[in-house]
Amino acid sequence: MPIIKFIKEQKEIEVPEGANLRKEAIKAGVNVHQGINGFGAGLNKFANCHGFGQCGTCRVKITKGMENASRMGMVEKLRFKVPIPTPVTPGGVDPLPCLAYVGNEETMRLACQVKVMGDIEVETGPELDLFGENFFS
Ligand code: FES
Repeated sequence: MPIIKFIKEQKEIEVPEGANLRKEAIKAGVNVHQGINGFGAGLNKFANCHGFGQCGTCRVKITKGMENASRMGMVEKLRFKVPIPTPVTPGGVDPLPCLAYVGNEETMRLACQVKVMGDIEVETGPELDLFGENFFS
């Protein structure tokens, strides 16, 4: 059975092959909805799309074993690549999930869209470099 290692939480869990990463994290008491650099983690834990690939709050980095994660599907690709307009952000565009992806194309995934097929290592709440060169590029 595959093992998921949550790096920040220093937790390892064994899961059935094909298990959903977000669901297994929740069962293990790991919050994959950590907001922006930790801000909003408490709120996002409850205010999210509950696994439909729409909110982008379950972003994680798979730092090892990406070959053991299911391939990125259309919903996930769209969520990362196409900013969805929302009324809450200036200009009506929600850029955060999209920009979080920049520079991390090989490792960033939405936990709710990942099926675990083998051993992986996961970093929850990957940092956004809000003032780095990638943010506004
Ligand atoms: S829970 Fe909303 S995108 Fe994963």
